[in-house]
Amino acid sequence: MRILNPQITQILTDTESHPPRAWEERGLVAGSTHPVARGRAVDFQRSKGYGYALFRGEEVIMRQPLVAGNWKMNGSVGSVRELLAGIKAGIGDIDKCEVAVCPPYVFIPQAQAELAGTPIPWGGQNLSTETSGAFTGEVAASMLLDFGCTYVIVGHSERRTLYGEGDALVAKKFAVARAAGLKPILCVGETLDEREKGVTEDVVARQLDAVIKLEGVRALADGVIAYEPVWAIGTGKTATPELAQEVHAFIRKRITDQDAEVAKKVRIQYGGSMKPDNAAELMAKPDIDGGLIGGASLKAKDFLGICKAANDSI
Ligand code: PGA
Repeated sequence: MRILNPQITQILTDTESHPPRAWEERGLVAGSTHPVARGRAVDFQRSKGYGYALFRGEEVIMRQPLVAGNWKMNGSVGSVRELLAGIKAGIGDIDKCEVAVCPPYVFIPQAQAELAGTPIPWGGQNLSTETSGAFTGEVAASMLLDFGCTYVIVGHSERRTLYGEGDALVAKKFAVARAAGLKPILCVGETLDEREKGVTEDVVARQLDAVIKLEGVRALADGVIAYEPVWAIGTGKTATPELAQEVHAFIRKRITDQDAEVAKKVRIQYGGSMKPDNAAELMAKPDIDGGLIGGASLKAKDFLGICKAANDSI
């Protein structure tokens, strides 16, 4: 077989390490026109979050799961040191999933120092839309970059509900982060009230479309999407894997309708009470590409358990 795409790093067969059901679940059945594969030992283009492979002679895109810890407003110099040491000690087993942490701003320099030389990137939980000036309490994209950040969360539901961040502002933050060379993690998700009213898809579409309208659909490939049903955040109520997959598939379809290539590349994380014991079944879903983890990211053992589940899902 002649490989035309120089980025193809792995040739998959339908028998390689996966039982046929797993392939089927991932849409890799024969004749599938838009297969998206996950496979072992693919040398993902780390900075991009996806890799190419050949499956049954067809070129497929494989997304690399991303598990990111959103520490929110938690931690101290001592606890951050302990948590990062714990994560570093266990990261050796996690060779396929990308693992990142988003500490509060003041701990970013500490994360940078303690994560130097590891494969673990770090990021901010928010950023300003301004570049500099009289904006008391704000932090600019360039400052996050100065401290080596790769990622930045934008539009987390706590920012949307507690600090009144609307779709337009979140889209602007996405744009500013992207322009600066940071990878925005765009959070979308419905409240309990919205779910009960049956408007989940409308809400998620509106949040997504705000970014697409401002930046164009291709911009999404420079970031990550996190679907976080608000009713599942910090409540112990996890969306069932089926329910989560439904919304993830909706998001991907909406992107596919505008640009199929972008849709195949963009990672969509799930967030909301993900724990080591529910991570594997969530990660097994074809459109769930990792997780944005709050509470469980504050304990190295729990966080690593989730990372391991993501790692084993590909
Ligand atoms: P949780 O938070 O894991 O504590 O539910 C997730 C998030 O808010 O990103």
